[in-house]
Amino acid sequence: MKTRVLSGIQPTGSPHIGNYLGALKNWAKIQYDYDSIYCIVDLHAITTYQDPKELRGKIEELAAVLLAIGIDPKHSALVVQSSVPEHAELAWMLTCVTPVGWLERMTQYKAKSAAQETIGDGLLQYPVLMAADILLYQAGIVPVGDDQTQHLELARDIAQRFNSLYGETFVMPATHLPSVGARIMGLDDPEKKMSKSTAGAGHAISLLDPPDAIRKKIMRSTTDSNPDVDFENAGAGVRNLLTIFQAFIEWPDEQLRSHFTGMRYGDLKKQVAEAVVSALAPIQERYRQITAERGYVAAVLDEGARRVSPLAKDTVNQVKQAMGLFTPPAPLSK
Ligand code: TYM
Repeated sequence: MKTRVLSGIQPTGSPHIGNYLGALKNWAKIQYDYDSIYCIVDLHAITTYQDPKELRGKIEELAAVLLAIGIDPKHSALVVQSSVPEHAELAWMLTCVTPVGWLERMTQYKAKSAAQETIGDGLLQYPVLMAADILLYQAGIVPVGDDQTQHLELARDIAQRFNSLYGETFVMPATHLPSVGARIMGLDDPEKKMSKSTAGAGHAISLLDPPDAIRKKIMRSTTDSNPDVDFENAGAGVRNLLTIFQAFIEWPDEQLRSHFTGMRYGDLKKQVAEAVVSALAPIQERYRQITAERGYVAAVLDEGARRVSPLAKDTVNQVKQAMGLFTPPAPLSK
């Protein structure tokens, strides 16, 4: 049996080049070597308030983007999390084996809860639901960006704890990071991770941004007071631009260094902008084709849920049996 890959993305904001270089590019790349399931995690999105109409639209928009970046529905199952109820069901069972202290230590929880007046319990449970997404399909590999590594360690801790309490049930999932681009920083503030939820026109490059918007954002990005590229002394902004270039163009380190050393920042920015524009052009063209075909995205999502549903039911059944929950007896054979 092929190792299973699972990953997820929230349908909030607009998917950006950080999501693409940190995770989505790998999703498309490894899908042919593994049995892959990719989830649009709408139940995670509602851990902070989402406008219902907007959320509904964003789910299909994100599905179209995922198809456009190369997720091939013939090989991978593309699934909306809430359409497979076992995600939430397993999350409850895992909640019961997860110490609250483990959840309170999560850095994303601390950052998100600090920014809110009232904190929904869902925000604390967020990483348990994420563990459920992964363990539900017995995934061995989880391709993500660097900001998800702590959540994945927690998923392994939860799996281990469950296995030791109730017997070997779950496969241990490994974190799979890209070698370049695991953490893309904001263009306006290179000390902060590029994020879907950060406001500001110059912060992130959306995968659907028109070429001129991309050029403008990169040309205005924050650098430092050096005049030109010096790999030893480059500030965070310049390092981020070089990383973006390298992650898209896939040059080895030496080639990157010899090409850009001594280049003035204006020229560096122009070259990075053109690399991003030309990498995103075919994605945007596919996005236009996909969204022009009415009903196609909905059909892909429907098929995805149908494909994974038996796997999800099977795991939940195993977990119920392991925990001693009620499972209907097998029908008597006549
Ligand atoms: P989300 O929606 O924030 O991001 C989706 C993926 O993009 C990566 N990413 C980045 N990579 C590099 N640089 C950045 N600036 C950057 N920003 C985001 C993320 O690491 C992620 O891989 N909790 C997850 C969704 C999730 C999930 C799962 C992931 C739910 N269930 C199960 C893996 C397995 C999240 O909020 O991702």
